[in-house]
Amino acid sequence: MATQKIYIAGHRGLVGCALHRLYAQKADWEIVTRTHAELDLTDVNATRAFFETEKPSHVILAAAKVGGIRANSEYQVEFLLHNLRIQNNVIEFAAACGVQKLLFLGSSCIYPKLAPQPIKEEYLLSSSLEPTNEGYALAKIAGLKLCQYYRRQYGKDFISAMPTNLYGPHDNFDLQSSHVLPALIRKFHEARTNQSPSVNLWGTGAPRREFLHVDDLAEACFALMENYESDQPVNIGVGDDVTIKELAEIVQDVVGFEGELVWDSSMPDGTPRKLLDVSRINALGWKARIPLAEGIKTTYQWFVENQV
Ligand SMILES: NC(=O)c1ccc[n+]([C@@H]2O[C@H](COP(=O)([O-])OP(=O)(O)OC[C@H]3O[C@@H](n4cnc5c(N)ncnc54)[C@H](OP(=O)(O)O)[C@@H]3O)[C@@H](O)[C@H]2O)c1
Repeated sequence: MATQKIYIAGHRGLVGCALHRLYAQKADWEIVTRTHAELDLTDVNATRAFFETEKPSHVILAAAKVGGIRANSEYQVEFLLHNLRIQNNVIEFAAACGVQKLLFLGSSCIYPKLAPQPIKEEYLLSSSLEPTNEGYALAKIAGLKLCQYYRRQYGKDFISAMPTNLYGPHDNFDLQSSHVLPALIRKFHEARTNQSPSVNLWGTGAPRREFLHVDDLAEACFALMENYESDQPVNIGVGDDVTIKELAEIVQDVVGFEGELVWDSSMPDGTPRKLLDVSRINALGWKARIPLAEGIKTTYQWFVENQV
């Protein structure tokens, strides 16, 4: 196979790093990257110039403004605007500059709040969204639709995937803006270090969530880039979920915190359950490999070594 050139947008993020690690191990791939400081993808002219100069043959769009419940609900304007701009620029100029294949990353949180479980791809847009992340979800839905329309109208091989909650090395461990799993790692780590008697956690612990290690996600993206051509998005998940309480107990165990867990049920829980139906991607021959406790263990090691 002749060398192909892949642009991994957002290669310093959780997903982008994992994609970079994976593609770097594969023969015949030249990887193109730009940091956010080198190329702001919300900048139309800079993004156009990048595509015209670099002419990648393949693109995975893993650059986005991403955050946890609090950041998503407090900054709806920024989540909507910033993500629309990034994806509009990347998708439009990828199409204009002859990119052969593009993968757009949606998210399981863009499905309706009360979607039947497990969530099938066709439930997208079937009822109201979760209000706390509506801005982010609307942007992602627009990106997914843009890829679909480019395929239908201009024959572009642009595909979309819907990953479940992800975790792994290079995650965001900042308590103000992080997702639940890295937030738990930091909270338990700090509580153990400070010898705190207890840790306070948001909500009741009852919601059920699915967690996929980002190295599994990277394998799934690679498989889709190689073998999937359709205007229908594909869920990427484990096919199994845990309660937040069970998750907290796994993290507590991995970190070795021996104090008490105190649940603040006055704080919002969010969607009661979010489990993806993964039969479409399983039928393509991909399955998640990394067990949750093992993935959390290696992620915690990474956190300790990097103290982000
Ligand atoms: N994390 C999850 O659980 C999850 C679940 C489902 C789907 N996804 C999807 O996966 C994708 C990647 O998420 P992630 O968790 O890897 O996010 P992340 O860790 O925050 O990484 C996003 C990357 O995008 C870069 N970026 C943001 N704005 C940019 C801009 N204007 N120009 C250039 N680069 C920009 C960031 O750079 P800076 O840090 O320098 O701003 C960062 O390197 C997103 O589309 C997200 O929706 C994530």
